[in-house]
Amino acid sequence: MPTVTIDGRRVTVREGAYVLEAARLAGARIPALCHHEAVEPIGACRLCVVDIWKPGWDADSFRLVASCLYPVEEGLVVHTATPRVMETRRVALDLLLARCPETPLVRDLAREYGIEETTYRKRENPDDCILCGLCTRICDKVGPAAISTQSRGVLREVAPPFFEAPPDCIGCGACAEVCPTGHIKVTEDGFTRTIWGKTFEMLRCPSCGRAYLTRAQAEWMAGRGMPVEPLCDSCKRRRTAEVAASLGRPR
Ligand code: SF4
Ligand code: FES
Repeated sequence: MPTVTIDGRRVTVREGAYVLEAARLAGARIPALCHHEAVEPIGACRLCVVDIWKPGWDADSFRLVASCLYPVEEGLVVHTATPRVMETRRVALDLLLARCPETPLVRDLAREYGIEETTYRKRENPDDCILCGLCTRICDKVGPAAISTQSRGVLREVAPPFFEAPPDCIGCGACAEVCPTGHIKVTEDGFTRTIWGKTFEMLRCPSCGRAYLTRAQAEWMAGRGMPVEPLCDSCKRRRTAEVAASLGRPR
């Protein structure tokens, strides 16, 4: 397992880890808005930049990289808060604030970096989408790839095909779950779930009666030979705890 130095602190991380993971292990605070453990990184937001140095490089030869994408290797030296790292993050946040001037997550982070208002022209009719791509990546990974990015440049946005209720969506809600800004809206009334303008029938947990899975998702999973959970998460946990307790009980 490689050992790396993060801000002067040596940490050993698992093989195949990225610098962001190592830095967090070392206690560094790095903003990473397009990162999620469940999907592969794409380096979209550029907020996680750090300075790195590798054995063999000139002593003063550091390079700026996106830590979420850069694999750790033995002897790597990482600085997570040099002046140019902080300035690069400030520029990225300034631009993001122009895109999403009212989004609390963006505003709070920008404020941490000393930015109250963007120095760029604010987007007209802004919404909360920071184009991190987490929703499309998770949908590709665990679902039917029902959503994608549409248009280009400042008009780019995440949407279903032709901006209509997505025919392939199974209503699993994974996209809303990973969205860091709450841009994707999901509503539930106990019987149905509505997302991306499409309404799904919910299946109920046979133990507690809670709506926990859309019928469309259950059918999609069954069609691929995937096991469909017969219970909701909390009943599953309770059953597991009951089994564990009964096994541990002295006879
Ligand atoms: S909708 Fe949410 S998850 Fe998807 S790109 Fe926008 S901010 Fe990211
Ligand atoms: S978290 Fe690394 S580029 Fe966004």
